[in-house]
Amino acid sequence: MLLVRGGTVVTAERSWRADVLCDDAGRIAQVAPAIAAPTGCDVLDAGGLLVMPGGIDPHTHMEMPFMGSVSSDDFETGTAAGVAGGTTMIIDFVIPQPGGSLLAAWKDWRAKAAKAVADYSFHVAVTHWDDQVHAEMGTLTRECGVNSFKHFMAYKGALMVDDGVLLRSIGRALELGALCNVHAENGDAVAFLQQDLLRRGLTGPDSHPLSRPPAVEGEAAQRVIAIAGLLGAPVYIVHVSTEDATAAIAAARARGQRVYGEVLAQHLVIDDSVYADPDWLGAARHVMSPPFRPKHHQKALWAGLASGQLQTTATDHCCFCAPQKLQGRDDFTRIPNGTPGIEDRMSVLWHHGVRTGRLTPQEFVAVTSANTARIFNIYPRKGAIVPGADADLVLWDDAASRTISAATHHQNVDYNVFEGMQVTGLARHTISGGRLVWTDGDLRAVRGAGRYVERPCFAPDLTAQLRLNRTSGDLPAGPK
Ligand code: URP
Ligand code: ZN
Ligand code: ZN
Ligand code: ZN
Repeated sequence: MLLVRGGTVVTAERSWRADVLCDDAGRIAQVAPAIAAPTGCDVLDAGGLLVMPGGIDPHTHMEMPFMGSVSSDDFETGTAAGVAGGTTMIIDFVIPQPGGSLLAAWKDWRAKAAKAVADYSFHVAVTHWDDQVHAEMGTLTRECGVNSFKHFMAYKGALMVDDGVLLRSIGRALELGALCNVHAENGDAVAFLQQDLLRRGLTGPDSHPLSRPPAVEGEAAQRVIAIAGLLGAPVYIVHVSTEDATAAIAAARARGQRVYGEVLAQHLVIDDSVYADPDWLGAARHVMSPPFRPKHHQKALWAGLASGQLQTTATDHCCFCAPQKLQGRDDFTRIPNGTPGIEDRMSVLWHHGVRTGRLTPQEFVAVTSANTARIFNIYPRKGAIVPGADADLVLWDDAASRTISAATHHQNVDYNVFEGMQVTGLARHTISGGRLVWTDGDLRAVRGAGRYVERPCFAPDLTAQLRLNRTSGDLPAGPK
């Protein structure tokens, strides 16, 4: 047993002075002022600290085969870096082989993730359509605890799906009570612009943002919102990076459509000036999709979070070291796309969000854990501090500062996109499943201690619309 004593509990709803007792099964047993320590119970002094639900990162790619490489943080090192930063759960992405079985890929990812030090769950990508995909979406939702499917509108010739697949998959997910996630960029436009840039001899990483301008994201966001609207389905747009996509989401929500938007910590604070770095590697390390944007987009993203139009924050944690990035030395389209972030998301959000007054501490909890838990239907097991919830907690020091650096981070990658950034607000202690896994700079993560988290379909937060859709007569029959 572990008693967290003397802290201020902060949830998405309120803040109050309370102790938190964690039981031996890794759950919260009691939340109350002045709990007497049971015999033999460890006591952790949380005086002066905020006690918040551990962060949930709904978008990571650990050891993912991608663009001829495999991302360098695996499930052990990546989740360990997460707990060092106060994140106690990830939702990673299962990527099937081209034309292959979703179920087989899910089993592969289960095996890879068995070494995770903290809890994990999976979205499963739909990258093509046939009867087997239709059937396996059913199996995954009924038997495997999967309630979300991912679609890439970009990466033409690899992961990209067309509108026909989107229609079928979103329709199928709707009948199963699952939620579709979408990477919204017009992949045809990206491929066209890439070829044009290469033909003109513009082969460097500074061409990457030119091949994916904001309109490429705005168009795709509007299109998938229209497709989901046509079917009456909810939809979740990952890594929203532009005011264009933010506006599309806000407009859809104002029409009553259930559309969710996720923002990356990186896009909130880093702008497109990184691509002007004369050092090739310096620029290549920032090649990710969507790319970093001109500064004014950040304003829209912060406003989206503060207003509730965008609900979640993530990192799209996808690490590639220098030799991997160098694969695209002569052709920017071959630079593996992705940046690290899992260890620093919480500090970046606190420093640039809460300390600037853009977000309240309650809103911080909402956008770093509670909203994700609700949307992906694991609330209040995760994202809350109530008896019966998993004892995943971060004890937050809102006065302490650190300087972010690859020299001190725990991520298995040779750079940090936030290098040199000084942030105030850090994880002093992290508790995962009732165990202290990070304490005053000491990482005590245990390989394999993380558990697979099943997520049931028909999330209460989405169901009003699902139920409406199922009873309405004028909807198209679920496409096969
Ligand atoms: O550049 C990125 N974001 N890499 C990971 C794959 C994806 O698009 O999410
Ligand atoms: Zn993506
Ligand atoms: Zn991603
Ligand atoms: Zn069907």
